[in-house]
Amino acid sequence: MRTPMQVDINPKILNVKESATLAINQQVLEMRAKGESVYHFGFGQSPFPVPIDIQQALADHTDKKSYLPTRGLPSLLSTIARFYEKHCGLTVSADQICVGPGSKELIFQAIYLLEGPLIIPAPSWVSYGPQAEIVGKKIVTIETQRTKGYRLSAEDLERVCGEAGSGQKILILNNPNNPTGSSHSEAELIQLAKVCRANHVIVISDEIYGLVLFNKKKHTSLSHFYPEGTIITGGLSKAFSAGGYRLGVMIIPQELTGLMKALMSFISETFSAVSAPIQYAAQTAYEYGDAVRQEVEKCTEIHQFAGEYLHGRFIKMGLNCPRPEGAFYLFPDFEPFREALADKQIYGSKQLVAEILTTVKVALLPASDFYLDESHLGVRVASVDYDGIRVLANFPGKAEMNPQLLEDLFPNLIAGCNNLEKYLETL
Ligand SMILES: Cc1ncc(COP(=O)(O)O)c(C=O)c1O
Repeated sequence: MRTPMQVDINPKILNVKESATLAINQQVLEMRAKGESVYHFGFGQSPFPVPIDIQQALADHTDKKSYLPTRGLPSLLSTIARFYEKHCGLTVSADQICVGPGSKELIFQAIYLLEGPLIIPAPSWVSYGPQAEIVGKKIVTIETQRTKGYRLSAEDLERVCGEAGSGQKILILNNPNNPTGSSHSEAELIQLAKVCRANHVIVISDEIYGLVLFNKKKHTSLSHFYPEGTIITGGLSKAFSAGGYRLGVMIIPQELTGLMKALMSFISETFSAVSAPIQYAAQTAYEYGDAVRQEVEKCTEIHQFAGEYLHGRFIKMGLNCPRPEGAFYLFPDFEPFREALADKQIYGSKQLVAEILTTVKVALLPASDFYLDESHLGVRVASVDYDGIRVLANFPGKAEMNPQLLEDLFPNLIAGCNNLEKYLETL
């Protein structure tokens, strides 16, 4: 038998656990494999198929085998620039854009390259903090308030900037937001822009859900009001339902000249370039032809329907929950049940989600995975536990939905809510 060998691991990674969202997904898959019915409100992947034109573009380019330029396929970069101009009202030139294998990787590289502490509004997406930990960067969290839709306020940002000193600071702002479904208004972004400009804050504006905004609203980027200091990230994963294609986009302001150069060095010494066929497929996505656009809009309307259905049920059950404005998440809290939960020795969000998963088979993520204190009784709900292909083919539009279709198309959303309701009735 071979003797085990001592392996010394970089200590920075030792405290970083597997991504919470991927871990809950694995747990649910295992429970389902054992034949248990689990309502999966834990994992936020788009349930829809990739629009057919994008799939076709991928199929048409399987022969593209050469390494592409580090920054990306030139025709893709100019297509992305046009997309942002036409659909987001931003003037962007192709030489400000680069693509990577998912926006998650690009955000990681930006966090690595930019000096200064990382300011994270709480709650925020699970991966920003661990990414900062991996590179040994200081994290400063700002707790936001449910009563303000969990949106970051300019006053809170200003206070934290004051405490952090005069050097460069990095803010990660996810808008529309995972985990809360909130979206900042223009007036709020204008106020945030003022604080960022006055306090040497470079913003990584994670706009991966920019097209998943409800009521046909057009997404407004912080970059409209703070163009010189806002780095935008986006990609194929959410609106185009192509998370597994792994293509993310980063737009860097002309003013941050050194950053693109540093990023190119980093990319060329790490992943080199994104897979070539995927870049051709992405070009079709960002050309945003009528068929692709209509499908993205229909999927967004379905996300809205599902989000509003869950919101209505949560409010009826007595939970606190801001109404979602975009993305596919809600962030209800069980605060009104705090005393009843304490009688069952449940004092925090981790205990709460473990109890709900084992007793009524609803998978949720705890608030503590989103930088809130364990005592916060919030949970993140993903609203996508349905068969996206069937729903996309049969969804008649929000206004035409009826109870029969609801039951037919969204059985797990209904059953998951019924189970949660039953659980609350036992308290
Ligand atoms: C808020 C947020 N940012 C970034 C990402 C990463 O997306 P990508 O697939 O582009 O890496 C996700 C995916 O879950 C997300 O929810």
